[in-house]
Amino acid sequence: MHTPVFLEKVVEYLEPIKGGKFIDATFGEGGHTRAILEKEGKVLGIDIDPEQIKKGKENFKRWIDEERLTLITGNFSRIEKIARRYGFKKVKGVIFDLGLSMSQLYEGKGFSYKRLEEPLDLRWNKRFKNTAADLLNYLSFEELYEVIASYSEDPYSREVVEEIVRERRKKRFKKVGDLVRVVERVVRKKDLDKSLRRIFQALRMVVNNETFNLESGLLGSLKVLKKGGRIIVITFHSIEDRIVKRFVKEKGLKLVEKLGIDSKREKSFERTARLRVIEV
Ligand SMILES: C[S@@+](CC[C@H](N)C(=O)[O-])C[C@H]1O[C@@H](n2cnc3c(N)ncnc32)[C@H](O)[C@@H]1O
Repeated sequence: MHTPVFLEKVVEYLEPIKGGKFIDATFGEGGHTRAILEKEGKVLGIDIDPEQIKKGKENFKRWIDEERLTLITGNFSRIEKIARRYGFKKVKGVIFDLGLSMSQLYEGKGFSYKRLEEPLDLRWNKRFKNTAADLLNYLSFEELYEVIASYSEDPYSREVVEEIVRERRKKRFKKVGDLVRVVERVVRKKDLDKSLRRIFQALRMVVNNETFNLESGLLGSLKVLKKGGRIIVITFHSIEDRIVKRFVKEKGLKLVEKLGIDSKREKSFERTARLRVIEV
């Protein structure tokens, strides 16, 4: 089971009360949703990964039957549309807990760089067009360098991309191990885990259009929240942090709380978690 890093804080800042409506934009394994439901709130849970919603429908059946939980496979970039469609208009809170949940590391989509035989896919949902392998096989050197350097912020980016381009002349990238072996060739052993974590996270962010999703999800939330409602965002990447900061500033919103911790998700690629509570 996935234990969200800031569970208590999320519940505290969302202040669920009987009948209050909330949107869990990143349902995952439902840790936040469960905490809200236990406090009598009503939840619309969204996840882009159909597997997460499928499991959620089994594990949360009791609350679905009580009509206190609606679970939808969807992209939170379309939060306004989804919320209106399912009658979640004036909600008290929206939570975005970005990144991976533990179970996704074992879904066979290549999310863990330790699972060398898995396909180098990294799509949350098969409906997305390009896999991570497609990016490695078909982007130009410059495009690939732009993706890896700017999203991973890894000091070995140039060497890694040069090695990828050399390698693909001989053999197309297909599996997680194909990329791991290339990275191993150019990154010093002591830095290897960090570089792999950053590079896989970078590819995942681009494959799934994650920065656009976040920008659009935040803007959409403003349309479905009631006055005084809150948006909670948990991020694991400096690019996401900048998007949230800019959003707060540009929209003149109130930042109620900002916390940061080392998430200690040993098996995950993501380490430093930041929580922001925004009031609208
Ligand atoms: C860190 S997990 C959330 C964990 C959840 N809070 C819990 O307690 O189990 C992030 C989830 O967000 C989902 N996700 C990522 N991007 C999304 C998007 N654009 N729209 C909806 N869900 C998304 C992922 O599939 C994943 O299940």
